Amino acid sequence: MKQTPAATRIFQYSARFWFTVTYLGQLIFAYYILMLYWTSTALGEFENWNKVNPHFYRKDDLTGNIFFASHVVLAAIVTILGPLQLVNGIRSKWPRLHRVCGRIYIYSAFLISAAGLYLALVRGAVGGPFSTATVSINGAIIMLCAFFCVRYARQRNIPLHNRWAIHLLIAMSGVWFFRVFFMLWMVIFRAPVGFDPETFTGPFLYVLDVFVYIFPQAIVVLYFKAKFSAGSFKKYLFSCLLLIITLATAVGIFGAAGGMWLPKL
Ligand code: HEM
Repeated sequence: MKQTPAATRIFQYSARFWFTVTYLGQLIFAYYILMLYWTSTALGEFENWNKVNPHFYRKDDLTGNIFFASHVVLAAIVTILGPLQLVNGIRSKWPRLHRVCGRIYIYSAFLISAAGLYLALVRGAVGGPFSTATVSINGAIIMLCAFFCVRYARQRNIPLHNRWAIHLLIAMSGVWFFRVFFMLWMVIFRAPVGFDPETFTGPFLYVLDVFVYIFPQAIVVLYFKAKFSAGSFKKYLFSCLLLIITLATAVGIFGAAGGMWLPKL
């Protein structure tokens, strides 16, 4: 199928629609992190971390608590900053701001992953060994993408820098995808189907781990294939796929905000 302006436009609109819905959802997550973790950490009310899980603040584990505090402090920063780095208008109007925020984002990506790896490997992630392994893989993917993103920026190879920046944003969004698609499942079934709510283990959660931490990287590859395809077919196909993902994401955000984040504040 020959490339038509309509295909390019639909492809761009579907990408912008996904980005807008996702960023709005990430801002709600950031609001939750600021109100729950930043506030309680600043006030020294560390027991409030345990509103989410009774093991987040442990009186006998100072090192673990410091890693947890650093992790959630950085979590709000990267969630707010990350998507803004991809906005063309900001990049071209304020290139210096893009570079400064980019440095903060990249350092934070390494630090949040290092703290996350400590929490996962030393304390153990909620959900047992499989979740520990997959979230650790997510941490490794983040570091790899951050490395290539910086490398190509330094080489002034902007197309490759942009490509790795998108891979990085998607890897950094893995934990957010987990919460959103978990709540989408709960909105659909209104019951813990496919997992044990006590131990937070079970087949659904294992599939979800792979679905949110690894599979989105393949979607990014498909995005670039469609973007640079000479014809229209791949652009239309990818736009349909992205529209379905965006609608599912919107329902998941609604579930996560109403059922997971805002009730904790
Ligand atoms: C880069 C983006 C990330 C953000 C925004 C983020 C955010 C958070 C937040 C807000 C919490 C507290 C739990 C909650 O209130 O939902 C948390 C806990 C945790 N995070 Fe992260 N995180 C990120 C990356 C990672 C990575 C890469 C790893 C692993 C390598 C990781 C491992 C953990 C672990 C183990 C916990 C303790 C709770 C659990 O076991 O699920 N995080 N994270």
